[in-house]
Amino acid sequence: MNSLLTVDGLTAGYGRVTVLHGLSMEAGKFGNVGLFGPNGHGKTTLLRAISGLLKPKSGTIRFDGQDIGGWSARAIVASGLVHVPQGNRLFPDLSIADCLTLGAYSPHARAHEADNREKVVTIFPKLRERWRQRVRTLSGGERQMVSIGTALMSHPRLLILDEPTLGLAPKIKDELCAAVLAISKGGVPLIVVEQDVEFLLELSQHLYLVNHGEIATEIRPGQTMDHGEIMSMYFGH
Ligand SMILES: Nc1ncnc2c1ncn2[C@@H]1O[C@H](COP(=O)(O)OP(=O)(O)OP(=O)(O)O)[C@@H](O)[C@H]1O
Ligand SMILES: [Mg+2]
Repeated sequence: MNSLLTVDGLTAGYGRVTVLHGLSMEAGKFGNVGLFGPNGHGKTTLLRAISGLLKPKSGTIRFDGQDIGGWSARAIVASGLVHVPQGNRLFPDLSIADCLTLGAYSPHARAHEADNREKVVTIFPKLRERWRQRVRTLSGGERQMVSIGTALMSHPRLLILDEPTLGLAPKIKDELCAAVLAISKGGVPLIVVEQDVEFLLELSQHLYLVNHGEIATEIRPGQTMDHGEIMSMYFGH
């Protein structure tokens, strides 16, 4: 089986600063991919390049057999590769209902709009309770639910989550983790950046350590790796 996403020799950065140095990885072949690594080493930059938010300097990005390297972010979402960015990027004056409708803007997503809305409120019952409430009045955890729900409305075939539980209180974080696992069990493969190693190990079949803009270590399906070993990779050997 081929990978849904293949990144090969990706170089990207900001202005004259290069952050990713010929990075290669794949996703959508062995279940979920977990990305981890120290702060500031290029995880978000990698996800932004994959989803068309940052133009690569060189290398190729293939999704479902097509070279998407030069595509707009909008065209990439429409093709089924959907990214929930780190932090909250929602419009504060929109209601939950409006955000979800906006997520289904592509013709492909619109065809599945009603089904996907039902899935979103099944995974996040809180969103149904607060349907007309504006984003600016929601808690951080609720906003994250809206962000992920909006992405699900785009009918993803591969969903990218950048630190979905960052900064959340334990109870709401547990709710989010359970929801992410439910999304995965529902058949959408994921790429997840996550600092919570327990959660990352529970969720991912395939792990990559991103260090200095390169893949320093890959843990393939079947290879066992315990919490302590992952922690020592985080903090240096
Ligand atoms: N918009 C930007 N302009 C210039 N430099 C940036 C920009 N965004 C990120 N960088 C730099 O690129 C490098 C990689 O950042 P990136 O956000 O990809 O790291 P990360 O691994 O996601 O970190 P974290 O774990 O803190 O989220 C850092 O040195 C950062 O300062
Ligand atoms: Mg990041």
